[in-house]
Amino acid sequence: MARAFNFSAGPALIPEPVIREAQDALWELEGTGMGLLEISHRSKAFEAVMDRARDRLTRLLRLSPDQEILFLHGGARTQFFQVPMNLLRGARATYFDTGVWSAGAIEEAARFGTVDVPFSSKSTGYDHVPRDGSWGELPAGTRYLHYTANNTVVGTEYDYVPTVKDAWLIADASSNILSRDLDGSKFDLLYAGAQKNLGPAGVTLVVIRKTLLDAADRDLPSMLRYDIHAAKKSLYNTPATFAIYVVERMCAWIESQGGVAAIEDRNARKSARLYAAIDQSPLFQGKVRPDSRSRMNVTFTTGTPELDAKFVAEANINGLLGLKGHSSVGGLRASLYNAQPEEAVEVLVGFLADFAARNSVGKA
Ligand SMILES: Cc1ncc(COP(=O)(O)O)c(C=O)c1O
Repeated sequence: MARAFNFSAGPALIPEPVIREAQDALWELEGTGMGLLEISHRSKAFEAVMDRARDRLTRLLRLSPDQEILFLHGGARTQFFQVPMNLLRGARATYFDTGVWSAGAIEEAARFGTVDVPFSSKSTGYDHVPRDGSWGELPAGTRYLHYTANNTVVGTEYDYVPTVKDAWLIADASSNILSRDLDGSKFDLLYAGAQKNLGPAGVTLVVIRKTLLDAADRDLPSMLRYDIHAAKKSLYNTPATFAIYVVERMCAWIESQGGVAAIEDRNARKSARLYAAIDQSPLFQGKVRPDSRSRMNVTFTTGTPELDAKFVAEANINGLLGLKGHSSVGGLRASLYNAQPEEAVEVLVGFLADFAARNSVGKA
């Protein structure tokens, strides 16, 4: 069966070699005589998978020995409250409000302490992220700064890591992790739901500095304590074995492509090609400020909901799937995660030109 071009925002496409390896492992995991879905998470073979995943992530994210890698449950949304539960409790933290996911994180954090929001782009439809340092000094006593590295819904992204003094740096990197070269050792806590650039839904990656494990609140349900998950090497309860296996294979695939730097070059090329096509089109227009454009989620519109819907319907017929914008913002969105081939972007660019030629009424 032929597979279509899949532009969905997550769960998103996975490279073919990784899918093929997972298919084989479902039947038998690495000479164990048991399938991946049937083998104990405490078996030597599966612990080796977890060790390899940690080793690869340490290399790819350039982590330092004082950071722990955890494989947790509950998606990125669980981190919205697990972070402040462990690390805020009554103190204050700074959050940047750059989209629905940031707003969700702010809402949860506000249950556990004082939340300062010195930057919000809500009034302009979340069309940009702040420039580094534009928020000024963080209030005295701030425990951490939290930001959303890539805003999946609106299509904005930070092209830098915010500079912080005297506070922990925490990021939700769910939709751009491993898509650009990043000095992961700068982060005191970094989290990402896997289902975009890391693999399938079901596992959440958390990278946490060991000093934060010591500083975290201990009066919490055990499943919500980072220090317990770290001490048990993410085997405190049954982890998402299938998802972790695929994360390990995804990391191997990234390394086989030349590592994050090579992937980043490709991502820069793909998104530049699509943005240029949108900017030059007589019909389509981008939805966010050019200085904040995401390489992962390219948002655009024809200018009317009716024509956007027609575009999505015709794209589907032509084997270009997942191009409908998020329901909260409408419009169109093409997600160009690591596994998206350049060929898919070329086909999409061709389709944009063809659609514009048939439907153009001139840009607003
Ligand atoms: C940036 C970001 N944060 C958080 C979430 C929520 O993730 P989950 O569904 O894993 O809880 C998403 C989902 O798309 C996201 O894109």
